[in-house]
Amino acid sequence: MKTFILENGVKVFQYGEPIDTDAVYAEKLKQKFDEKLKPSFKEDGKAIINIELEKEDMVYGLGGNLGGINKRGRVYQSYCTDEPSHTEEKTTLYGAHNFFIVSGKTHCGYFIDFPSRIKYDVGFSTLDSFNIEIFGQDFNLYVIEGETLEEISSKFLQIIGKPYVPPKWGFGYFQSRWGYKNKEEVLEVYNTFKENKIPLEGIYLDLDYMDNFKDFSISKERFDGFKDFVEKLKKDGTYLIPIIDAGVKVEKGYDVYEEGIKGDHFCKDKDGKPYTAAVWPGQVHFPDFFKEDTQKWFGSKYKLLTKSGIEGVWNDMNEPAIFYDQKSIDEAINSAIESKGKNMDVFSFFDLKDKFANLANKDEYYKSFYHQVGNTMKSNDEVHNLYGHYMTKSANIGLKKLLDDKRFVLISRASSIGMHKYGGIWTGDNCSFWSHLDQNIKNMPSLNMCGFFYTGADTGGFGNDCYGEMLVRWLQFSVFTPLLRNHSAIGCQNQEPYVFGKEVKENSKNLIKARYRLLPYIYSEYMKSVNNYKLMFKPLSFEYEDELAKQAEDQLFLGNELMIAPVHKPNHKGRYVYLPQKMVEVSFKGDCESLAVKDCGIHYLSYELEDFKFFLRKNSIIPHINPAMNVKHLSQETLKIIAYVDSEAEYNLYDDDGISHQYQQGNSFNTNIKITRGNDDFIIEVDNSNPSIKEIEFTIIDSSNNIKNKKIKL
Ligand code: GLC
Repeated sequence: MKTFILENGVKVFQYGEPIDTDAVYAEKLKQKFDEKLKPSFKEDGKAIINIELEKEDMVYGLGGNLGGINKRGRVYQSYCTDEPSHTEEKTTLYGAHNFFIVSGKTHCGYFIDFPSRIKYDVGFSTLDSFNIEIFGQDFNLYVIEGETLEEISSKFLQIIGKPYVPPKWGFGYFQSRWGYKNKEEVLEVYNTFKENKIPLEGIYLDLDYMDNFKDFSISKERFDGFKDFVEKLKKDGTYLIPIIDAGVKVEKGYDVYEEGIKGDHFCKDKDGKPYTAAVWPGQVHFPDFFKEDTQKWFGSKYKLLTKSGIEGVWNDMNEPAIFYDQKSIDEAINSAIESKGKNMDVFSFFDLKDKFANLANKDEYYKSFYHQVGNTMKSNDEVHNLYGHYMTKSANIGLKKLLDDKRFVLISRASSIGMHKYGGIWTGDNCSFWSHLDQNIKNMPSLNMCGFFYTGADTGGFGNDCYGEMLVRWLQFSVFTPLLRNHSAIGCQNQEPYVFGKEVKENSKNLIKARYRLLPYIYSEYMKSVNNYKLMFKPLSFEYEDELAKQAEDQLFLGNELMIAPVHKPNHKGRYVYLPQKMVEVSFKGDCESLAVKDCGIHYLSYELEDFKFFLRKNSIIPHINPAMNVKHLSQETLKIIAYVDSEAEYNLYDDDGISHQYQQGNSFNTNIKITRGNDDFIIEVDNSNPSIKEIEFTIIDSSNNIKNKKIKL
């Protein structure tokens, strides 16, 4: 074991010879420490860590997993998996996010930097024991100490580096569906949004746009004139975002396949031949994204899209998902043939059924293909969680080059910590279930803790049928999430905001408009979180230590100003909300708002489908503007302010060009607003460097519910 310290005091315990996982970039300085957690190394090649849990201990983090904000009482596994059924007993999903904080009388954060399977039993088998099984003995364990939960999460964000920043248009509303089968159908979606004056930033293109599921191909038959189509929509500020899958179709004459073979870019089987498995197009090879020249090669292929005007993509099936391999499907088919005409008892019937049902994503597939990692070959299983990570790195390298200094939208399904630098993630194939809306709420702070800021769930749910009430309730929450995308699966009920009748259409439209009203705040909070290593979404317990705050699993702080408390159950007209401090209930009504001061404590919040509500914290300020049809048409000439001032409130509104990477050189605008309560009036101080803001309209409320309106010309 070797020990190191990082600049910000994080301690590192290195066991064995870990692989570089691209997660932590901070420099390691040699220093001697005692072990805080002493792993035991087993003969079967695993390492076990055991943490005793006190009754009051809570466990935070672990990113995009199922379960609560407090992770106790469940089993989780880090092993990126294409898991389309997010039912309660599932332990693996798409991400491998190995950072967590144990918090009780004291707080301590841990990051296990290891690219293969880790199993976390957080007080599930034994109430007071947190058992961690690492499927290997070469790893780095980072121990992050601090006085507060915020300090620990901030120190962790510092060592993994700043998250990916999309362009400002990436914060708009996106429509998506697997099954918009041609240009005409996509155009119809665009036109229907326009006719109904519902804001729309862009449309995600699912695999329907490809020619026979081939990466970097566009169907001539269904998407003829692609470039003109992309450019026409973009003129109006509407972006198309096509999908790219990890597997490359095996087909003679197909350029990507031919180049991949010629350049030796594909993963190998045990005999050194390109590994073949089946996904959408049938047989595919998987690019070996561990090789730098493969990253560059695959990244350069995005040119087919960027040359048509595309500025955003989504990387999918990059766990990588495998439907079957030839050996397994042949075995299943042979068993079926052998069983033909036989009287099958319960055991033989289930045996046969399972042979087909369990074909996808078998463990044995991941042990049977290899990556070149430095000078050695490693099975995919050994470095499994880095596959989607490196695919997204490859896309990032490619897009950066192809689009010069322009920012792009890039999201991935699979991820591990470190990938947060290259792109965002969506939370995978959820369903139109109320419990999945609830999960979306719980995931946001956990994902933030692991570095994933540009994230959100498929609004309305991907699988199963959505209905009007659910879509509206989902939007009431997801209009706060940086990635806002309504996406659904082929064969399910369509779920565009206009398909569920007039009432749902109007309610959805108002919610999407509310997103655009709040966009300056959402963007500002995103950028400040990135720049200052702060969480954008925080559990209440990160600031308040009382029991009600600790148990508030469906309320979140957004920035330092807002608390959000969405309704996530059917047939409800409101919900109970816990206010750990005095706040103002803000209700958006069309382009206006109503405000009411609420004392701390538990309140019943009336929250109907036509409402949009959130809470503004004491001595806080939020900016908003008039909504528009998309970011291109937004104007912040008149900036509006809602402030709850008891004594003094201050807000710094961050802004930048929203397009380039110039913000990295500090090229940004700041509008600093300070409001102080004087004897009989409010004193307003504004320090503004943003030329696009010409006037500011203030609505200020005090603790006695007195409201003052003011206007300042700049
Ligand atoms: C995967 C993706 C989903 C997409 C589908 C078809 O299931 O997670 O978002 O719609 O593939 O490409």
